[in-house]
Amino acid sequence: MNTQSTSLQPMTESQRTPSLMARLRDETRDNHKALEELPFNRWLMEHRLPLPMYVQLLSSYKVLFEKLERLLVNSSHPFVQAVWQDNMTKVPALSADLEVLSATLGSCPEATQSAAEITQSFSDESEGGLLRLLGALYVLEGSTLGGTIIKKHLATMYQLQHDAGLAYYNTYGPFLGRHWKAFVGRMNALPLTEQQADQVVEGADQMFAQIGAIMEEIQASNA
Ligand code: HEM
Repeated sequence: MNTQSTSLQPMTESQRTPSLMARLRDETRDNHKALEELPFNRWLMEHRLPLPMYVQLLSSYKVLFEKLERLLVNSSHPFVQAVWQDNMTKVPALSADLEVLSATLGSCPEATQSAAEITQSFSDESEGGLLRLLGALYVLEGSTLGGTIIKKHLATMYQLQHDAGLAYYNTYGPFLGRHWKAFVGRMNALPLTEQQADQVVEGADQMFAQIGAIMEEIQASNA
Protein backbone atom coordinates (compact mmCIF):
# COMPACT_ATOMS: atom_id res chain seq x y z
CA MET A 1 0.00 0.00 0.00
CA ASN A 2 1.31 3.44 -0.82
CA THR A 3 1.24 5.28 2.49
CA GLN A 4 3.12 8.27 1.13
CA SER A 5 0.29 9.51 -1.05
CA THR A 6 -1.71 10.82 1.92
CA SER A 7 1.22 12.69 3.50
CA LEU A 8 1.90 14.44 0.20
CA GLN A 9 -1.62 15.86 -0.02
CA PRO A 10 -1.52 19.67 0.19
CA MET A 11 -2.80 20.92 3.54
CA THR A 12 -6.22 22.52 3.54
CA GLU A 13 -6.57 26.05 4.95
CA SER A 14 -8.02 24.72 8.23
CA GLN A 15 -5.14 22.27 8.75
CA ARG A 16 -2.48 24.96 8.38
CA THR A 17 -1.32 26.67 11.57
CA PRO A 18 -2.58 30.24 11.32
CA SER A 19 0.12 32.88 11.14
CA LEU A 20 0.73 35.08 14.18
CA MET A 21 -0.90 38.08 12.51
CA ALA A 22 -3.93 36.02 11.43
CA ARG A 23 -4.33 34.88 15.03
CA LEU A 24 -4.01 38.45 16.32
CA ARG A 25 -6.60 39.73 13.84
CA ASP A 26 -9.06 36.89 14.43
CA GLU A 27 -8.67 36.53 18.19
CA THR A 28 -8.89 40.26 18.94
CA ARG A 29 -11.73 41.07 16.49
CA ASP A 30 -14.28 41.30 19.33
CA ASN A 31 -11.96 43.57 21.33
CA HIS A 32 -11.75 45.91 18.35
CA LYS A 33 -15.51 45.92 17.93
CA ALA A 34 -15.99 46.68 21.64
CA LEU A 35 -13.58 49.60 21.33
CA GLU A 36 -15.37 50.99 18.28
CA GLU A 37 -18.66 50.83 20.18
CA LEU A 38 -17.47 52.87 23.18
CA PRO A 39 -19.22 56.25 23.43
CA PHE A 40 -15.82 57.93 22.94
CA ASN A 41 -15.43 56.41 19.46
CA ARG A 42 -19.09 56.65 18.54
CA TRP A 43 -19.01 60.37 19.34
CA LEU A 44 -15.86 60.71 17.27
CA MET A 45 -17.50 59.08 14.27
CA GLU A 46 -20.63 61.22 14.79
CA HIS A 47 -18.56 64.42 14.97
CA ARG A 48 -19.62 65.27 18.52
CA LEU A 49 -16.52 64.43 20.54
CA PRO A 50 -15.51 67.59 22.45
CA LEU A 51 -11.99 68.67 21.50
CA PRO A 52 -10.68 68.55 25.11
CA MET A 53 -11.53 64.84 25.21
CA TYR A 54 -9.54 64.15 22.05
CA VAL A 55 -6.62 66.18 23.43
CA GLN A 56 -6.81 64.18 26.67
CA LEU A 57 -6.56 60.97 24.66
CA LEU A 58 -3.49 62.26 22.81
CA SER A 59 -1.87 63.27 26.15
CA SER A 60 -2.46 59.79 27.56
CA TYR A 61 -1.20 58.16 24.37
CA LYS A 62 1.95 60.26 24.63
CA VAL A 63 2.69 58.91 28.13
CA LEU A 64 1.91 55.38 26.96
CA PHE A 65 3.93 55.46 23.75
CA GLU A 66 6.94 57.19 25.33
CA LYS A 67 7.29 54.41 27.85
CA LEU A 68 6.44 51.47 25.61
CA GLU A 69 8.72 52.69 22.85
CA ARG A 70 11.56 53.07 25.36
CA LEU A 71 11.08 49.39 26.30
CA LEU A 72 11.10 48.39 22.62
CA VAL A 73 14.16 50.48 21.73
CA ASN A 74 16.15 49.22 24.71
CA SER A 75 15.24 45.56 24.42
CA SER A 76 18.05 43.25 23.40
CA HIS A 77 15.67 40.34 22.81
CA PRO A 78 16.01 39.04 19.23
CA PHE A 79 12.22 38.90 18.70
CA VAL A 80 11.80 42.56 19.62
CA GLN A 81 14.84 43.56 17.60
CA ALA A 82 13.46 41.69 14.58
CA VAL A 83 10.18 43.63 14.70
CA TRP A 84 10.84 47.10 16.10
CA GLN A 85 12.19 49.83 13.82
CA ASP A 86 12.86 53.37 14.97
CA ASN A 87 10.72 54.82 12.18
CA MET A 88 7.70 53.28 13.93
CA THR A 89 7.86 55.88 16.72
CA LYS A 90 4.65 57.86 17.18
CA VAL A 91 5.89 60.22 19.94
CA PRO A 92 7.00 63.11 17.65
CA ALA A 93 3.62 63.00 15.87
CA LEU A 94 1.73 63.02 19.18
CA SER A 95 3.79 66.00 20.39
CA ALA A 96 3.12 67.86 17.13
CA ASP A 97 -0.64 67.24 17.37
CA LEU A 98 -0.73 68.33 21.00
CA GLU A 99 1.02 71.55 20.07
CA VAL A 100 -1.43 72.31 17.25
CA LEU A 101 -4.52 71.32 19.21
CA SER A 102 -3.27 73.14 22.30
CA ALA A 103 -1.96 71.04 25.11
CA THR A 104 -3.14 73.81 27.43
CA LEU A 105 -6.58 72.21 27.25
CA GLY A 106 -5.10 69.93 29.85
CA SER A 107 -4.91 66.24 30.44
CA CYS A 108 -7.20 63.83 32.24
CA PRO A 109 -5.26 62.82 35.38
CA GLU A 110 -7.03 59.45 35.71
CA ALA A 111 -6.35 58.53 32.08
CA THR A 112 -2.73 59.71 32.26
CA GLN A 113 -2.26 57.65 35.41
CA SER A 114 -3.76 54.59 33.66
CA ALA A 115 -1.45 55.09 30.69
CA ALA A 116 1.55 55.12 33.02
CA GLU A 117 0.30 51.98 34.78
CA ILE A 118 -0.21 50.14 31.49
CA THR A 119 3.42 50.64 30.66
CA GLN A 120 4.42 49.18 34.02
CA SER A 121 2.48 46.04 33.19
CA PHE A 122 4.54 45.60 30.02
CA SER A 123 7.93 46.33 31.55
CA ASP A 124 8.46 42.78 32.77
CA GLU A 125 11.68 41.83 31.00
CA SER A 126 11.03 38.11 31.02
CA GLU A 127 10.46 36.54 27.61
CA GLY A 128 6.72 36.37 28.35
CA GLY A 129 6.72 40.11 29.11
CA LEU A 130 8.48 40.88 25.82
CA LEU A 131 6.06 38.71 23.86
CA ARG A 132 3.13 40.55 25.47
CA LEU A 133 4.86 43.81 24.54
CA LEU A 134 4.84 42.70 20.88
CA GLY A 135 1.09 42.06 21.19
CA ALA A 136 0.67 45.59 22.56
CA LEU A 137 2.72 46.91 19.65
CA TYR A 138 0.37 45.12 17.22
CA VAL A 139 -2.61 47.00 18.69
CA LEU A 140 -0.91 50.38 18.56
CA GLU A 141 0.54 49.85 15.10
CA GLY A 142 -2.78 48.49 13.80
CA SER A 143 -4.60 51.59 15.02
CA THR A 144 -2.92 53.48 12.16
CA LEU A 145 -5.03 51.42 9.72
CA GLY A 146 -8.36 52.74 10.98
CA GLY A 147 -6.58 56.09 11.20
CA THR A 148 -7.17 56.74 7.52
CA ILE A 149 -10.91 56.89 8.28
CA ILE A 150 -10.63 58.51 11.72
CA LYS A 151 -8.41 61.28 10.34
CA LYS A 152 -11.16 62.45 7.96
CA HIS A 153 -13.69 62.63 10.79
CA LEU A 154 -11.28 64.58 13.01
CA ALA A 155 -10.50 67.03 10.19
CA THR A 156 -14.20 67.73 9.58
CA MET A 157 -15.17 67.85 13.27
CA TYR A 158 -12.37 70.21 14.38
CA GLN A 159 -11.99 72.04 11.04
CA LEU A 160 -8.35 71.09 10.68
CA GLN A 161 -6.62 72.22 7.50
CA HIS A 162 -3.71 70.63 5.65
CA ASP A 163 -3.36 67.74 8.13
CA ALA A 164 -2.33 70.11 10.97
CA GLY A 165 -3.16 68.32 14.23
CA LEU A 166 -3.45 64.98 12.41
CA ALA A 167 0.16 63.84 12.47
CA TYR A 168 -0.54 60.82 14.69
CA TYR A 169 -3.09 59.34 12.30
CA ASN A 170 -0.90 60.32 9.37
CA THR A 171 2.33 58.77 10.60
CA TYR A 172 3.10 56.86 7.42
CA GLY A 173 1.28 59.11 4.98
CA PRO A 174 0.81 57.42 1.61
CA PHE A 175 3.15 54.60 2.66
CA LEU A 176 0.81 53.19 5.32
CA GLY A 177 0.01 50.04 3.33
CA ARG A 178 3.67 49.35 2.66
CA HIS A 179 4.60 49.83 6.36
CA TRP A 180 1.78 47.57 7.54
CA LYS A 181 2.72 44.86 5.06
CA ALA A 182 6.35 44.99 6.21
CA PHE A 183 5.27 44.84 9.88
CA VAL A 184 3.03 41.83 9.13
CA GLY A 185 6.01 40.17 7.44
CA ARG A 186 8.36 40.79 10.38
CA MET A 187 5.81 39.54 12.92
CA ASN A 188 4.97 36.44 10.92
CA ALA A 189 8.65 35.61 10.45
CA LEU A 190 9.22 35.28 14.23
CA PRO A 191 10.00 31.64 14.98
CA LEU A 192 7.42 31.32 17.77
CA THR A 193 6.00 28.23 19.38
CA GLU A 194 2.24 28.13 19.80
CA GLN A 195 2.62 28.96 23.49
CA GLN A 196 4.77 31.98 22.67
CA ALA A 197 2.20 33.13 20.10
CA ASP A 198 -0.46 32.76 22.85
CA GLN A 199 1.49 35.27 24.93
CA VAL A 200 1.60 37.77 22.06
CA VAL A 201 -2.20 37.46 21.68
CA GLU A 202 -2.58 37.88 25.45
CA GLY A 203 -0.58 41.15 25.28
CA ALA A 204 -2.82 42.40 22.44
CA ASP A 205 -5.96 41.54 24.43
CA GLN A 206 -4.59 43.38 27.42
CA MET A 207 -3.68 46.48 25.40
CA PHE A 208 -7.11 46.65 23.74
CA ALA A 209 -8.75 46.45 27.17
CA GLN A 210 -6.46 49.11 28.60
CA ILE A 211 -6.99 51.55 25.72
CA GLY A 212 -10.72 51.08 26.28
CA ALA A 213 -10.25 51.85 29.98
CA ILE A 214 -8.41 55.10 29.13
CA MET A 215 -11.25 56.17 26.83
CA GLU A 216 -13.84 55.37 29.50
CA GLU A 217 -11.92 57.34 32.11
CA ILE A 218 -11.79 60.37 29.81
CA GLN A 219 -15.51 59.93 29.20
CA ALA A 220 -16.28 59.75 32.92
CA SER A 221 -14.14 62.72 33.88
CA ASN A 222 -15.87 64.89 31.26
CA ALA A 223 -19.41 63.80 32.12
C1 HEM B 1 -13.61 54.84 15.79
C2 HEM B 1 -12.60 54.04 16.07
C3 HEM B 1 -12.01 53.07 15.10
C4 HEM B 1 -12.37 52.75 13.83
C5 HEM B 1 -13.51 53.28 13.01
C6 HEM B 1 -11.42 51.75 13.37
C7 HEM B 1 -11.42 51.18 12.11
C8 HEM B 1 -10.53 50.25 11.66
C9 HEM B 1 -10.52 49.69 10.33
C10 HEM B 1 -11.46 50.10 9.21
C11 HEM B 1 -9.51 48.78 10.28
C12 HEM B 1 -9.17 47.88 9.11
C13 HEM B 1 -8.34 48.61 8.11
C14 HEM B 1 -7.88 47.71 6.98
O1 HEM B 1 -8.07 46.48 7.04
O2 HEM B 1 -7.31 48.26 6.05
C15 HEM B 1 -8.89 48.77 11.56
C16 HEM B 1 -7.85 47.94 11.90
C17 HEM B 1 -7.27 47.91 13.15
N1 HEM B 1 -7.53 48.75 14.20
FE1 HEM B 1 -9.04 50.08 14.29
N2 HEM B 1 -10.51 51.49 14.35
C18 HEM B 1 -10.83 52.27 15.43
C19 HEM B 1 -10.17 52.36 16.61
C20 HEM B 1 -9.05 51.62 16.92
C21 HEM B 1 -8.29 51.77 18.12
C22 HEM B 1 -8.57 52.83 19.19
C23 HEM B 1 -7.31 50.83 18.09
C24 HEM B 1 -6.24 50.56 19.11
C25 HEM B 1 -5.60 51.51 19.78
C26 HEM B 1 -7.47 50.08 16.87
C27 HEM B 1 -6.68 49.02 16.48
C28 HEM B 1 -6.74 48.40 15.26
C29 HEM B 1 -5.93 47.25 14.88
C30 HEM B 1 -4.92 46.52 15.76
C31 HEM B 1 -6.25 46.96 13.56
C32 HEM B 1 -5.62 45.87 12.69
C33 HEM B 1 -6.53 44.66 12.54
C34 HEM B 1 -5.83 43.61 11.67
O3 HEM B 1 -5.05 42.83 12.22
O4 HEM B 1 -6.07 43.60 10.47
N3 HEM B 1 -8.53 50.59 16.18
N4 HEM B 1 -9.52 49.66 12.39
